[in-house]
Amino acid sequence: MTTVLIKGARPYGEGDPVDVLVEDGVITDIGSLDVPDDAEVIEAGGQVLLPGFVDLHTHLREPGREDTETIATGSAAAALGGYTAVFAMANTDPVADNAVIVDHVWRRGQEAGLVDVHPVGAVTVGLKGEKLAELGTMAKSEARVKVFSDDGLCVADPLLMRRALEYSTALGVVIAQHAEEPRLTVGAQAHEGEQAARLGYTGWPASAEESIVARDCLLAEHANARLHVCHVSTSGTADILKWAKDRGTKVSAEVTPHHLLLTDERLATYDPVNKVNPPLRTESDAEKLRAALAEGVIDCVATDHAPHAVQDKDCEWSSARPGMLGLQTALSIVVETMVRTGLLDWRGVARVMSERPAEIGNLTDHGRPIEVGEPANLTLVDPDAEWTVRGAEFASIAANTPYEGMRLPGVVTATLLRGRITAREGKIAQ
Ligand code: DOR
Ligand code: ZN
Ligand code: ZN
Repeated sequence: MTTVLIKGARPYGEGDPVDVLVEDGVITDIGSLDVPDDAEVIEAGGQVLLPGFVDLHTHLREPGREDTETIATGSAAAALGGYTAVFAMANTDPVADNAVIVDHVWRRGQEAGLVDVHPVGAVTVGLKGEKLAELGTMAKSEARVKVFSDDGLCVADPLLMRRALEYSTALGVVIAQHAEEPRLTVGAQAHEGEQAARLGYTGWPASAEESIVARDCLLAEHANARLHVCHVSTSGTADILKWAKDRGTKVSAEVTPHHLLLTDERLATYDPVNKVNPPLRTESDAEKLRAALAEGVIDCVATDHAPHAVQDKDCEWSSARPGMLGLQTALSIVVETMVRTGLLDWRGVARVMSERPAEIGNLTDHGRPIEVGEPANLTLVDPDAEWTVRGAEFASIAANTPYEGMRLPGVVTATLLRGRITAREGKIAQ
């Protein structure tokens, strides 16, 4: 039996510090407790205890690009970032569009043993947007795929999207859409606005995202299906989501840490580390996204952790690949943009980083309340500590962080997966 006693933690940052006893993966007591024999003790010193974070949107690059990230290194980055479960996107090589690949990813996640790795299945064969993949076979495979997405690409054909939504209801799964009307983003390099115009970049207009989100909300409503919108980046999308939710459409949405904090002012650096899809937008978009997250119009934070090789980032803007690392900085960016600004308290952080993503991803053992009898998937956060971002020190193989050298608030000091310590004081616990 493994026993861990977390001494003096404040669940959800509320009330006086309490001791939390974890035995065999389950929370068995909360209060003022004696240290049992053989217990591993974590001295929390009043730090904030939260349910383990759940990332609905991670790119782990295995199979295919193990030079940039593997399931093992990505799992380590996740555990260090406070995550206990991640959803691994399907745009690998080969694409995760069949039971063999999703089961392989699932097993590799289990072998790594640091977070629950849930493979996302592709919606269409080879992400080609032409023919539906075998969603049912993946949903019933060993991996029990719960989320399907062609992320990286948009399911642009409305009829295919309609069919996918119809099947998803029957299977009890969710379709996550990378909303980008491809006809409107041909050659696009950056947010279509003043900054891009000044630098001569082809623009990626807000309407390319918004037109797909509006369409998909209508299709979801028509099919009585659940839709999840990936990485919302514009103010207009927040308005559409509010409209759809008010009508009763079953739509959920995520925002990335980088869209909460960064803007297209970053284009002036010419540094492709800032190139991402959808692109960094304007300050008024970011402000609207923060408000929408606080109000629940946007349900949760997802990283879109996208590792890339040096040669794919350290080149001219137009040939650089889009994407940035996120797993080890997400909590700090949420603290910076949402907690320090008073938009969210720690209950709210638990909601957007753990509870809502677990619900959307159909996970029953993550995002649970910190109560006796619940699985011990937990994250301990020092809310007052600060740290300096050094991409080279990340557990990820890649180092493409847009926060390099920045001093950020909020440090994950321990992560527990089913009662086992996976990360402690910035190191993987083996
Ligand atoms: O910036 C992005 N990177 N956006 C995506 O949709 C895909 C991702 C990737 O796979 O690198
Ligand atoms: Zn995407
Ligand atoms: Zn993505």
